[in-house]
Amino acid sequence: MDKTLLTVLDGDRQSPPPVWLMRQAGRYLPEYRALRAKAGGFLDLVFAPEFAAEVTLQPVRRFGFDAAILFSDILVVPHALGQQVRFSVGEGPLLDPIADRTAFERLNSEVDHKVLAPVYETIRIVKQQLEPSVALLGFCGAPWTVASYMIAGRGTPDQAPARLFAYRDAAAFAVLIDVLVEASVSYLVRQLQAGADAVQIFDTWAGVLPPDQFERWCIEPTRRIAELVHAQVPNAKIIGFPRGAGAMLARYVEKVPVNAVGLDWMIDKGFARERIQSRVPVQGNLDPLVLVAGGVALDRAVDATMEAFAKGPFILNLGHGIVPETPIEHIEQMLKRVRG
Ligand code: CP3
Repeated sequence: MDKTLLTVLDGDRQSPPPVWLMRQAGRYLPEYRALRAKAGGFLDLVFAPEFAAEVTLQPVRRFGFDAAILFSDILVVPHALGQQVRFSVGEGPLLDPIADRTAFERLNSEVDHKVLAPVYETIRIVKQQLEPSVALLGFCGAPWTVASYMIAGRGTPDQAPARLFAYRDAAAFAVLIDVLVEASVSYLVRQLQAGADAVQIFDTWAGVLPPDQFERWCIEPTRRIAELVHAQVPNAKIIGFPRGAGAMLARYVEKVPVNAVGLDWMIDKGFARERIQSRVPVQGNLDPLVLVAGGVALDRAVDATMEAFAKGPFILNLGHGIVPETPIEHIEQMLKRVRG
């Protein structure tokens, strides 16, 4: 059976549109919380293929989503480069921050695929269990976003440490970005070889960059990743998600050979339809908080998104990851509204 999501990535329109949610495996699900408690730490869960596969499948089973997204994290790449990465409950990720050039020169220049082997194994397990109509998505973080966590050692309100680093020592920062480009390419290629049907590149922090820096640290490295992945896997399907790109999204889709782009909830829908969806299929863009609120506000938001994008190639999703407070009934309400 055809995977509807993949037909959209090929440029077709589907009615109703395929639906999945960014961060759909996670703490808003009681079955996730139960398994997470059994597995121990977050990385223990990520690197235990049977558990990670189960967590990947949980939201698909419960909601009948059109895609499963591999359960892992963007920060397994710095981990596989030799940087200490921990996830503490309530605090999010913590890494040993990279203060200067010498600090990242101590890291490996290539990812250790032995460290990432359990992730590829998870993909193989999920692939066997997934219904043929459901697509399996792999992913990585974009170099800018991953570098911003590597430098700050954690999430910050506007990733100031990485922005400062890039201004003060652009040459050193470019070396780090190059390492991450290579690492991301080999990581994505292995995910595709293990059975991922498409991959998404999350650039969560793209929106804090001014246009010239956005060109240099978001568009250029992501373009290289897409081209290098295609050189090894010619029919690879790639979804780009430069969150907060705003008007720069037009530039992004001009330069980066992606099969679709994720739209965040802040973007003007008219602009996105005329300037973006006219070039590539789009995915998005409900505000994760309207899914928390539910009620009439949710119905209106779903209608507005469908009205704007469902006449063309479109994948319904959020404009960023689902938040742990999201009530399960609101997801059911949203699905009913979309699928009728
Ligand atoms: O989408 C999915 O369901 C697949 C799994 C997935 C996770 N992280 C699991 C996770 C994906 C695609 C990610 C991507 C990710 N991780 C991004 C890019 C997308 C985004 O949301 O911005 C970023 C920036 C990270 C880094 C990260 N990991 C942060 C900032 C946090 C803490 C905040 C949070 O939501 O908890 C994590 C931890 C994390 N990654 C959890 C999950 C399910 C929660 C860990 C737990 O169970 O305690």
